[in-house]
Amino acid sequence: MKIKLSIKNLNVSFASAKALKDVSLDIFEHEILSIIGPANSGKTTLLSTLNRMLDRVHGCVMTGGIDMDGTDIAHTTDVAALRRRVGMVYATPIPLPMTIRQNILFGPKLVRRVDHDEAEALIEKTLKASFLWDEVKDRLDSSALRLSGGQQQRLCISRTLALNPEVILFDEPCSGLDPISTAKVEDAMKELKKGHTLVLVTNNTKQAARVGDRTAFLLMGELVEVDQTNIIFTKPSDKRTEDYVTGKFG
Ligand SMILES: Nc1ncnc2c1ncn2[C@@H]1O[C@H](COP(=O)(O)OP(=O)(O)OP(=O)(O)O)[C@@H](O)[C@H]1O
Ligand SMILES: [Mg+2]
Repeated sequence: MKIKLSIKNLNVSFASAKALKDVSLDIFEHEILSIIGPANSGKTTLLSTLNRMLDRVHGCVMTGGIDMDGTDIAHTTDVAALRRRVGMVYATPIPLPMTIRQNILFGPKLVRRVDHDEAEALIEKTLKASFLWDEVKDRLDSSALRLSGGQQQRLCISRTLALNPEVILFDEPCSGLDPISTAKVEDAMKELKKGHTLVLVTNNTKQAARVGDRTAFLLMGELVEVDQTNIIFTKPSDKRTEDYVTGKFG
């Protein structure tokens, strides 16, 4: 399997805390890698290093390396280009206060000209990929803010997809969603891995088990273990992983 992202000896400190301690991890192309761990274990910090969201955080110091397709992205200067290649979906869906159509076209139109036919195709393709198309195809010109929370999250996935990123980072994308909306987002993720590489941070170990090809367990900034998801959940090699996945702490 081809390595898409290679994280080497990554350390991240904030003024008040050391958030990641010597983390080394490869992420394969077209896999879903789940990252699990209790609060403050460094999950969001790890995701944030992959599209340089820590650059402007005062007091944050990062050492180590991150390569994407063999090229350094931890120190590359073209951060805007990197963020088009590595998209992010957050826990709380925040659609722009515009129509559904405008939400999807907003990003692409910032970087290039999109003609009418391409726009229509892009809207349909990205809404189908997030499993939202059937629910909104007759109201593309109504406000995105009128969608339900679960629909808004799927719209945010479509919006990210409109820039055609190679890697998509999800930070607890279903934490505010009901089980039916959660299932739709998970179905979308399983389809998306065919064309993208996905990294899913989740507090929900059952979700990690359902969708992750591999699962990484972080604890207090340390990568305790990473392996095939079924191994992490049935016969992990580290006692701390076992205690976490069996619900003894967290
Ligand atoms: N912008 C920041 N400024 C200062 N400290 C931060 C910042 N972001 C994270 N930290 C610290 O880094 C550590 C790891 O935080 P992080 O958000 O990565 O954890 P997490 O695993 O995502 O937790 P949760 O499950 O609660 O989202 C914590 O001690 C946190 O206080
Ligand atoms: Mg977090």
